[in-house]
Amino acid sequence: MSIELPRLPYAQDALEPFISATTLQTHHGKHHRAYVDKTNGFIAGTPLADAKLETIVAQAAQRKASEPAMVALFNNAAQAWNHGFYWLSMRPGGSSPQGALEARVRADFGGLPALRDALKAAATGHFGSGWAWLVADGAALKVISTSNADTPLVGKQVPLLVIDVWEHAYYIDHHERRAAYVTGVVDQLLDWEFAARNYERAIAP
Ligand SMILES: [Fe+2]
Repeated sequence: MSIELPRLPYAQDALEPFISATTLQTHHGKHHRAYVDKTNGFIAGTPLADAKLETIVAQAAQRKASEPAMVALFNNAAQAWNHGFYWLSMRPGGSSPQGALEARVRADFGGLPALRDALKAAATGHFGSGWAWLVADGAALKVISTSNADTPLVGKQVPLLVIDVWEHAYYIDHHERRAAYVTGVVDQLLDWEFAARNYERAIAP
């Protein structure tokens, strides 16, 4: 068994005009596929060959400080996981926060507009390649960014939503204008119902 490239949860042109079909063809069909294929190449014939992607990421994260071969596995496996989570973080037309998440957005940020501003600032301001995340830190909501393949999946915080800020996510559509891409994703595409489900799981006793 090996890990698989997940299908996009919408049509390739469903996120237009904010993210084009051309971008999704390349980003999902080539970049994400390459991370999956390289991960499978690294785990073939090893004890991780049949492991779930989350387990591979966790193992590689734990071992990469002492085993140099684990660095490349971590980078590819974490990128494979981050991209799967990114596709699920968006939906055509976006959605609104519900339930416990909606109440916590008001408590921690004063409302959705301020949280959107914080996400835009983190995504636009992150230096170099990486990811901007909404995470649950205990019951509290936090906006963070990570570099390269780094992911809160291997820490104590629980990922709720993510925005890819690698250039490959926006260069075809927006060239160097990362802020234009980020504004489209945050204001029009983020799936707050997905975040609300993740939040409810994060705070469940
Ligand atoms: Fe990406």
